[in-house]
Amino acid sequence: MRVVMIGTGYVGLVSGACFADFGHHVTCVDKDASKIERLENGIMPIYEPGLDTLVETNVRAGRLDFTMDPKAAISEADIVFIAVGTPTRRGDGHADLQYVYAAAEEIAEYIDDYCVIVTKSTVPVGTGDEVEKIIAKARPRASFDVASNPEFLREGAAIDDFKRPDRVVVGAQTEEAFAAMQELYRPLYLNETPLLKTERRTAELIKYAANAFLATKISFINEISDLCDAVGANVQQVAKGIGLDNRIGSKFLHAGPGYGGSCFPKDTLALTKTAQDYGSPMSIIDTVIKVNDKRKASMVDRIVKACGGSVEGKTLAILGLTFKPGTDDMRDAPSLVIIPGLQALGANIRAYDPEGMEEAKGMFKDIELCDDAYHAMTGADAAVILTEWNEFRALNLKRVVETLSSNTLVDLRNIYPLDEVQNLDYHSIGRPNQPK
Ligand code: UGA
Repeated sequence: MRVVMIGTGYVGLVSGACFADFGHHVTCVDKDASKIERLENGIMPIYEPGLDTLVETNVRAGRLDFTMDPKAAISEADIVFIAVGTPTRRGDGHADLQYVYAAAEEIAEYIDDYCVIVTKSTVPVGTGDEVEKIIAKARPRASFDVASNPEFLREGAAIDDFKRPDRVVVGAQTEEAFAAMQELYRPLYLNETPLLKTERRTAELIKYAANAFLATKISFINEISDLCDAVGANVQQVAKGIGLDNRIGSKFLHAGPGYGGSCFPKDTLALTKTAQDYGSPMSIIDTVIKVNDKRKASMVDRIVKACGGSVEGKTLAILGLTFKPGTDDMRDAPSLVIIPGLQALGANIRAYDPEGMEEAKGMFKDIELCDDAYHAMTGADAAVILTEWNEFRALNLKRVVETLSSNTLVDLRNIYPLDEVQNLDYHSIGRPNQPK
């Protein structure tokens, strides 16, 4: 099939490369000339494991190309995806749909024969209806359908998530559109991946409901972890104990410094705005958002307490800046709240992140960016693990103690087994300091 992907951000680029890998011909479109040029030269605009090789292989096979001028590709396309950004609109928290609607206008100009236009960007309920109206108004006689096909990719594991998804959701209004989408996802269909067909508005809501539910699980376990601290219980064992119940499931029950990233914060907020607009408020999600905001800020107090009640004039080594491992993405990362919070209390910050250093530059004032974890810890009064990168899981703890001027390690991701850290002044989340 001939596929066009409008937008070469995270979702568009990963999805485009994966569809090409399924054997389709994919043209990725972007307005950013330097991005297109870099992609044509094999330089990825984001860090995502395996993406560079996937792009290179498919470009070489003639199945994937990049352009700023989508006219020819759209006129020949069977399916055109809209995968542009839907950031939080400044001021009111709604998803900003200007790029989606601009893409719809552009598609309307060039479509020729029947084609399915699919929103892959996370868009509020009813956006598909608007896209349909825009195209129908501009081209009253054009033959097209508008479908919704939300993505459930996690940064850092996006290619695997795309190729081995738990499900594919397609929301459409006609059998013709469903048939085209089924053909597109044929390799997954043959693998017996469930393909859930719904009405378009339902598919749009599934995406928000999924992210909001996962965010709820995280805020839930974070509050349980505070209770574990208070009563002397172990949150990892509580998570295991409840997660073994299939009705609950073990995933997304890792306590930490609060969720971040480009999706959960934005999507939970947008969902509450939609709910308000339709007179059906979602007080659970309102609370999840508040709990998460408070969570990030409360990590500052936790670190101060671990440092003996004050960080004034102390140097802290921060290990990990990105919102999670496997990405260079800093959007809504807990580090953006925690580091300025510590600095406001007089701490000096030395920091290291395996992939996020370039992104982090300019996001923090007065911090020293270091070459590696040990460099960051050299002479520091304490080390704080903010992101659970694999290389922080395998620190030489003897060397950590020798490198720091104290032996204080604050682990906000609970990555160390308690019996391995008995020689340290070790502080984790929702776990007593002694192994049981
Ligand atoms: C999330 C969803 O997991 C994807 O299914 C979805 O497609 C994507 O948003 C999106 O809407 O595009 P992502 O933001 O890449 O993916 O990252 P997650 O792995 O979900 O992590 C989000 C945040 O939750 C991170 O800050 C992570 O540290 C935190 N988290 C995750 C926890 O604190 N505890 C957990 O148990 C899991």
